[in-house]
Amino acid sequence: MKKNRIIIFDTTLRDGEQCPGASMNLREKLEVARQLARLKVDVIEAGFPIISEGDFTAVKSIAQEIKGPIIAGLARCVDKDIDAAGAAVKAAGANGRIHVFLATSKIHREFKLGKAQDEIIRLAVAGVKRARSLVADVEFSPEDGSRTEPEFLVQVCQAVVDAGATTVNIPDTVGWAIPDQYGALIKRLYEEVPAFKSGAAVISVHCHNDLGLAVANSLAAVRGGARQVECTINGIGERAGNAALEEVVMAMKTRADFYEGFACGVNTREIVKSSRLVSRMSSLLVQRNKAIVGENAFAHASGIHQDGVLKKRETYEIMDPQEVGWGATELPLTKHSGRAALASRLKDLGFKLAEPDVQAIFARFKEIGDKKKFVYDEDLTALVGGHITEVPETWSLDYLAVVSGNQTVPTATVRLKRVDGRKADAVYQDAGIGDGPVDATLKAIDRLTETRGELMEYSLRATSQGHDALGEVNIKVDFGDRQLVPGKGASTDVIEASARAYLNAVNRHLFSGEERKKRSEP
Ligand code: KIV
Ligand code: ZN
Repeated sequence: MKKNRIIIFDTTLRDGEQCPGASMNLREKLEVARQLARLKVDVIEAGFPIISEGDFTAVKSIAQEIKGPIIAGLARCVDKDIDAAGAAVKAAGANGRIHVFLATSKIHREFKLGKAQDEIIRLAVAGVKRARSLVADVEFSPEDGSRTEPEFLVQVCQAVVDAGATTVNIPDTVGWAIPDQYGALIKRLYEEVPAFKSGAAVISVHCHNDLGLAVANSLAAVRGGARQVECTINGIGERAGNAALEEVVMAMKTRADFYEGFACGVNTREIVKSSRLVSRMSSLLVQRNKAIVGENAFAHASGIHQDGVLKKRETYEIMDPQEVGWGATELPLTKHSGRAALASRLKDLGFKLAEPDVQAIFARFKEIGDKKKFVYDEDLTALVGGHITEVPETWSLDYLAVVSGNQTVPTATVRLKRVDGRKADAVYQDAGIGDGPVDATLKAIDRLTETRGELMEYSLRATSQGHDALGEVNIKVDFGDRQLVPGKGASTDVIEASARAYLNAVNRHLFSGEERKKRSEP
């Protein structure tokens, strides 16, 4: 690898997915991983295998399917974590990486771990050695590295490199660093640990955004000697998030005059598509003014700017929007488009769907095509988002009629189909009244499905422009489980979109209950 090649390590599926409300199911994670491969990131951190069966399966499935990027699994410096990570990334062969971490800062040593410096080094070395016995590619992270005493950090880096770590990552775990200071810390490590300078081991950075400095810190570190940057799409992640991949990559590309010679292998034209997909799959909306990928990132509102751009784009635009994938939309489909056209467009959009899935989406596409003139790529992505659920459906929506207005009691009549085969012939129809049409609809669904959910979060957005745009509803429901259950649904009718999102959550909840029951049976 060239000396100034920057390795892009994407942790959307691990640190990104770790943030509240962002959890994705297996199929959603696989779609994101496929898109990350198209984006040509170098490393995909696919999860934390010991955390749950779901995380283990996701890392394993990604390692089995995704070719090209290195697939990493996270582990604490604990044997069972390391073994689980090793088993999960095994299918990636030489492209499998185990990423072990252990806190090194004084505050973590004293208050969290109760361990002295020499014990920390002993555990770190043992963890790296165990990981190296399973894979050749091992990364070590001294958690809270930026707040660790620099002299001790040098010792830790040297020890783990000697033990076989091929990458050492210096996390700014709590987003405490300041660019000049963090850049200087990385430079010091680069100078004092011979393996970093010789290129025998890679120095990596991982910055959180608590002070809004994650990208600035990552870029300062690159100039200090870091050759791997850990980041996430849309900057999603714990608390205020991680460094945003699109910002790190485009800063280096757009300001190549300053970051002379530094380059990464990312296919920037896939950036907007990646951003949209992650936003859909994680249910985390992107703010309009977000750099690079926000709706307003290239929208010039003032007359002076518009005039300037028309005369010469570069007067007010430092990047060509097409370079990051804006404006690459194909002609919209219409109700006359056939199944083959739909299947081909879904494939172009990057979805890998089995025949029954295409069939189900085609049925929804036809329904929507009858209601609106054009079906845009954004609408299709929303339909797929609503459809992708790893759970087999128990209930589906058959019929919905709503009466609502300012002088009437909102009433909803709902008919459902039971699609899990049990009592499929029975008629499941009921009516509900509520504070509003959505409330009335959800109450009727609760009675029919014999569930009782409390709506904790509700968001509605239009997928495209125009009065006939699809409304996409994202919700989080409390069914009394340990975790809130997400649900998504889309339709030209926002009440129907709400009903679909709620049924999606009900199906997930019922499925996880069934799974739990199966696991507790002898
Ligand atoms: O922020 C952090 O310290 C981490 C480590 C596990 C790398 O995410
Ligand atoms: Zn982190």
